[in-house]
Amino acid sequence: MSIDLIATTTFGLEAVVKRECQALGFQNIKTSDGKVEFTGDESDIVKANLWLRCAGRVWVKMGTFTAVTFTELFDQTKALPWGDWIPEDGKFTVVGKSVKSTLFSVPDCQAIVKKAVVEKLKDKYKTDWFDETGASYTIQVSILKDVVTLAIDTSGSGLHMRGYRASAMDAPLKESLASAMIQLSYWRKDRILLDPFCGSGTIPIEAAMLARNIAPGLNRKFASEEWERIGKERWKQARKEAYQAIDYDVMPEIYGSDIDPAAIELAKANAELAGVDDCITFEVKPSQEATLPGKYGVLISNPPYGERIGELKEVENMYRALGATMKTDTTWSAYVITSMEYFESLYGRKADRKRKLFNGRIKTDYYQYEGPRPPRKEKKDEE
Ligand SMILES: C[S@@+](CC[C@H](N)C(=O)[O-])C[C@H]1O[C@@H](n2cnc3c(N)ncnc32)[C@H](O)[C@@H]1O
Repeated sequence: MSIDLIATTTFGLEAVVKRECQALGFQNIKTSDGKVEFTGDESDIVKANLWLRCAGRVWVKMGTFTAVTFTELFDQTKALPWGDWIPEDGKFTVVGKSVKSTLFSVPDCQAIVKKAVVEKLKDKYKTDWFDETGASYTIQVSILKDVVTLAIDTSGSGLHMRGYRASAMDAPLKESLASAMIQLSYWRKDRILLDPFCGSGTIPIEAAMLARNIAPGLNRKFASEEWERIGKERWKQARKEAYQAIDYDVMPEIYGSDIDPAAIELAKANAELAGVDDCITFEVKPSQEATLPGKYGVLISNPPYGERIGELKEVENMYRALGATMKTDTTWSAYVITSMEYFESLYGRKADRKRKLFNGRIKTDYYQYEGPRPPRKEKKDEE
């Protein structure tokens, strides 16, 4: 039986997640604001969680309907086949959100949905009492303009949590956004990558994982690992296949530098945890002293945005210096995410393309400067 699934995304990344879903072979892919819907089976739930690099979470879509009264919400929720997923000992919580809808009280909607699901499960399991001692099922009720969508979270913590970030530092980039920035660029594993503001190393690490085909979810747990319907064996098999798919012979040339020695220490530790420390060179270095190693490289970076008090002038100078560095070799491409609206005038060039993205709550632009493609000869040498 085909299952309706939803991969949530941050605003602006729908097309990237759609491409990932296509590459994974999912069917009936549809995108709308903040989500990519597709159909699949139990194995696809495992695959989506293990392999999607840019999605937020993967949900089983239970149903969608219009409701403007609590009775409509209760009845239509109860009509859905909850027992297909939630076993008798299942532990379930309801989370919710409501936007521009008649039913605006989220706690009330959550309580109604919980009650409706309990009533449905009572009928199925012929019992009045549930211990809720088993696996966790988080149900989300989301209402947008009176249209209710009910879904169960298969991921648990957000998919950006790869399990390699030892500890957080100041303003880290979400792993999913870092991977999207890379996938939106022309960087490929045979081109040099440089991040001169690498912080905890997220961009270099995500690039190396992509190059080596390391599944982003290999080192973490997922809510649906405990689910009866999916089964531990399916997860075990998918993990095994993912391990076998890693190509450690791929040796991308990746550089990360940062002015902060503590950040570089952390980046090194993270890269080691992710299994990519042997192909990234990390260095403590102010960006103003950065040089471009080799030809046809790609700079991808998340510099400071100048939003902190007293930081603005310094950041403006950094952007000017970055533009000057990039001018020293026109074979390079550059991709920079920042919220600074006059970035292009400091950098000294209008971007070839600009894409609106959210870095957490911060509205940013992703400035894309596309240099020439490497000559074909290099490709031939490789073959
Ligand atoms: C927004 S953070 C980057 C976070 C990084 N993408 C991550 O995921 O951890 C900006 C980084 O720029 C670094 N930085 C600030 N001024 C710098 C400079 N002049 N040269 C190099 N790095 C600098 C900071 O230490 C900080 O790590």
